[in-house]
Amino acid sequence: MEHLLLLTPNSYDFMSKPTSRSKIIIKQFPDGENYVRIPAQFHGKAVTVIHRCYPGQDRSLIQLLLILRTLKEGGASRVRAIVPYLPYARQDKLFLKGEALSSKIICNLLVKSGCDELITFDCHFLKKEGTFNYGGLRIRNISLSKKILSHFKKRLYSPKIISPDEGASYLVAKEADWGVMQKMRGTYSKGKTIYRKPKVEVRFDVKGKDVVIIDDMISTGSTMLKAVAACKKLGANSIRCGASHGLFLHGSLKRLKRAGAKEVIVSNSIKSTASKINILDSLGGML
Ligand code: R5P
Repeated sequence: MEHLLLLTPNSYDFMSKPTSRSKIIIKQFPDGENYVRIPAQFHGKAVTVIHRCYPGQDRSLIQLLLILRTLKEGGASRVRAIVPYLPYARQDKLFLKGEALSSKIICNLLVKSGCDELITFDCHFLKKEGTFNYGGLRIRNISLSKKILSHFKKRLYSPKIISPDEGASYLVAKEADWGVMQKMRGTYSKGKTIYRKPKVEVRFDVKGKDVVIIDDMISTGSTMLKAVAACKKLGANSIRCGASHGLFLHGSLKRLKRAGAKEVIVSNSIKSTASKINILDSLGGML
């Protein structure tokens, strides 16, 4: 079966020279609504679409739904979406009565729009590598932890590898010298922005060690900043941070460096100056 790879404008950079055959056109109507056009011939073909859904997650998700349905109704035989960072994955538990379980709702929407398979990286609610069915959607979750760790191992002799919480422990669990910090989150903050502040505790020895802290994402940076501060206080020789996804809200990349992180790296799932790992290198022969 013929296979076709398509990219949306926010993902063109994944290919050195995207051709008109591989480009999806996305524009906005004057009122801000999305216009999507897929010029390539895709009838009867197995199609893979690469589309970043961050930043601008609400807009990007709508674009993806329009693309998927257009492909399906236009006769694509199989539609696969590569969404490097899956938004709305963090509300995978309900804390208060009546909350929306956004992780599941988004997956439901993708499958109903014609997505046969979603490929994503270190998805927050899956917490391990592999193929899953979540909210009716087939998801292949690929971990970037090996690539991130090998970046640091090339620079350090016998580092202490740690994750800031249980949820991210699968990222480091295969390492010889590793540990998991204890992370507790408080209750929801007041006001319009909803957030639960983290508190971390290091219960193992990092004194004199070169520490590498690995997490699935750096969002506001609170978790990583607390982890860096704790390791510094306990006398770590050096501290480096790696994460699959770098949202770097509230200037957290600069704040991490100011707090003492010698290096901070993330993948290009979201583009930033700290993007050192290319997600395409982890896709094997899938493209
Ligand atoms: C939480 O469970 C995740 O693994 C990350 O630790 C968290 O989402 C990072 O968020 P922030 O940077 O806002 O602390």
